[in-house]
Amino acid sequence: MDIRIFNDAEEIGVAAAELYRELLTEKPNAVLGLATGATPVPTYKNLIKLCNEGKISFKDVTTFNLDEYCDLDKNDKNSYYTFMHENLFNSIDIMEENVNFLDGNTADCDAESKRYAEAIKAAGGIDLQLLGIGTNGHIAFNEPADKFTDEAFKVTLTQSTINSNQKYFGDVPMPRYAMTMGIGSIMRSKKILLIATGESKANAIKALISGNVTPQIPCSILNEHPDTVIMLDKEAASLIK
Ligand code: F6R
Repeated sequence: MDIRIFNDAEEIGVAAAELYRELLTEKPNAVLGLATGATPVPTYKNLIKLCNEGKISFKDVTTFNLDEYCDLDKNDKNSYYTFMHENLFNSIDIMEENVNFLDGNTADCDAESKRYAEAIKAAGGIDLQLLGIGTNGHIAFNEPADKFTDEAFKVTLTQSTINSNQKYFGDVPMPRYAMTMGIGSIMRSKKILLIATGESKANAIKALISGNVTPQIPCSILNEHPDTVIMLDKEAASLIK
């Protein structure tokens, strides 16, 4: 794993966007795996900036988002579909037909999982998968478990994830379930970029760096990926020796 430490989230946003610039310069039709949450927002701001400056284009890019809540309309203000459009897609030159999400309201999770896996395969596989990390070490919504998952599945969110994400929903109770890409789907990405910022992520990062691979710390599987870059601010890196 290639670990890079920065002063703050803003610096990471610039450095992460530069990785995308390099990839899109080399491969304008790259396939990007994208994440939601607070962590990738500075990266998305810098991608919008580069696109507005004409330094990158998304017109031939295909995207696959990691996860989507269940029991929430896709156009709900808290859906990940809405988040991605508000924080990135509406401000870049991507084609809507090249944007892919798991359907959180599917009646057939297995068929939906298969559909997503086939769409990723048909696109040529994910070139660069962006990940945040949960305070409990989750990646996408792969919560601590007894075994590593493979393709997408419906997950029951843990109390730790609900505690972290309820703030976005205000007084409305947040969904208890989500459709998420599995660990296998993430690990098949050619390159992975994991970003972590803030002190609340320090323990998960310490566990990841320790090298002990266990499904109880889902992010630990990244130790087995051949090309993972980890960008941390000083707080997230504070427990690394
Ligand atoms: C979101 C996702 C989650 C988040 C993680 C961190 O698509 O897959 O794993 O990356 O929960 O969220 P933030 O960035 O809000 O701390």
